[in-house]
Amino acid sequence: MKKLTFGTPETHVPSAYCQTMKYVERPVSYPIDRIAFKVNTRGCRLEFPMARGEQIYGLGLQLQILNLTGRQMVTRVNSDPVAPTGDSHAPVPFFLSTAGYGIFIDTARYAEFDFGRPHPSKPRTLTEGEQAGASTSEIYAQRATAKEAVISVQIPVARGVDIYIIEGNTLTDIVAQYNMLSGGGPDVPEWGLAPFYRCCTRYNQEQVLETARYLRERNFPIGILGLEPGWQTQTYSCSYVWSGERFPNPQALVDELTDMGYHINLWEHVFTHPTSPIYDALSPYSGDYEVWGGIVPDLSISEARSIFADHHRDNVLLDKIDGFKLDECDGSDFICHSSWSFPLTTEFPSGMDGEQYHSMLGTLYMQTILRALDGKPTLSEVRQAGALAASYPFVLYSDLYDHKDFIRGLTTAGFGGLLWTPEVRDAQSREEFLRRLQSVVFSPQCLINGWYCDRLPWLDHDCEDEVRELLELRVRLIPKLKAAFDSYRDEGIPPVRALVSDYTNDAETYRIDDEYLFCDDMLVAPMVAGEASRRVYLPAGQWKDYFSDAVLESGWHEITTEGIPVFVRM
Ligand code: GAL
Repeated sequence: MKKLTFGTPETHVPSAYCQTMKYVERPVSYPIDRIAFKVNTRGCRLEFPMARGEQIYGLGLQLQILNLTGRQMVTRVNSDPVAPTGDSHAPVPFFLSTAGYGIFIDTARYAEFDFGRPHPSKPRTLTEGEQAGASTSEIYAQRATAKEAVISVQIPVARGVDIYIIEGNTLTDIVAQYNMLSGGGPDVPEWGLAPFYRCCTRYNQEQVLETARYLRERNFPIGILGLEPGWQTQTYSCSYVWSGERFPNPQALVDELTDMGYHINLWEHVFTHPTSPIYDALSPYSGDYEVWGGIVPDLSISEARSIFADHHRDNVLLDKIDGFKLDECDGSDFICHSSWSFPLTTEFPSGMDGEQYHSMLGTLYMQTILRALDGKPTLSEVRQAGALAASYPFVLYSDLYDHKDFIRGLTTAGFGGLLWTPEVRDAQSREEFLRRLQSVVFSPQCLINGWYCDRLPWLDHDCEDEVRELLELRVRLIPKLKAAFDSYRDEGIPPVRALVSDYTNDAETYRIDDEYLFCDDMLVAPMVAGEASRRVYLPAGQWKDYFSDAVLESGWHEITTEGIPVFVRM
């Protein structure tokens, strides 16, 4: 791995906020002399050579696209990413190439990446034998065959930047080094991998307890219960104070839940309501725009962090809360309303602007809550993360709900040191509910998010036994998943990976975005409602069907099942 500095880098960059950064310099064979850098009117630009046939991946969690070759992408934080343009809950300025390298751009800016722009200083000329096309398809076809291309990265505002070049034989080798740069994956407790149910936001204390008792009576192995906004007196923005009306005795509630064997997770977001006991203390450390009538604390400032964390530790955590869901930290302005987040021009007391703070908020928020948890192990949730965030025990989720996009998220998140849950909420049919739950079982966090469901969502679909069986399957997977998380922590190998990540030399894997590798030796190919069968690609080697033990050779197979196709490498 090699760090290079171009121009004068900015102060507020991801590495400056990474508390576990471990850079060890090693020589690289990458042609550094072919990197071009230029300060321009829009900030600065980097250009990297790109060879024909190279395939590009990365840029963090991408729900709409896996293979970025030939695409223009902007790493903009957006809670409603609806197109393959780079918008994401968790964009990460790190890309990887099948040519054996990855490049991390240490910026909190919304950078524009062009993965295969014809070289700007060499206008395209027809080579011998080529003819100018007459039809549009001919013209476009010629453009696609341009011989020389670059990867160009335009970083707004900045007059310079640090980059890290990482080399490896497979994309997994490369991403593992990227993850170790920020201290490796998180230390995750086994209980955090257990099935997780989030209760309806309208529930009061008694209704939460009724749900908890029901789940135990009916033998559903739920290990974690989450409370949604309703636990607080104010939620948009937040007070971080228990609502006495709905929860007259929170200590008794958490004691009883704990006695029943549950871990407890609380929903919140960072925008602080005027009635919150920490509002006045946080005000001087906040940005100059409000969100939902609340202030936006600058959690890069240690005073703000202490006020926020101490209040949680002393007044919210009680003694039995060991997880949080950090919502809304991902710029909800675009599809919703313009007051759902802060603008890019916001000024924060640390000197960060709104663009930088959008990129850093998830990370700073996770750090603050971990400080409140004071060393208690957790596997929590967050809706925004970014660069160098591998070591935080938080899983990303989304309000979007396309099942195929959710599965694709499992293939892309691992390229950015991120964890993703394709959470199940409700469904149009029994089939859809079960198909969604199958993919949730084979994901980093087994989450059923019933936040708007008045009753357990599977009760609408007459599939209690199937749900119980799937959750029991998840419980059986925990030791394996825990071992995979330990490798993530110690060696940086993500527990969930796209096929191309391990099988980088197999061109057949380049565009497979609906199958993934799970733990060290499993391959999962989820199915969606409406599919009776699907094609599954098994890379080199022999594979055993996880459920039937049937042995399959590598190659494409048509699989018909009501279950989820899962294979184990032999
Ligand atoms: C959304 C979140 C949902 C749920 C809801 C509660 O922002 O994505 O999972 O928590 O808020 O209001």
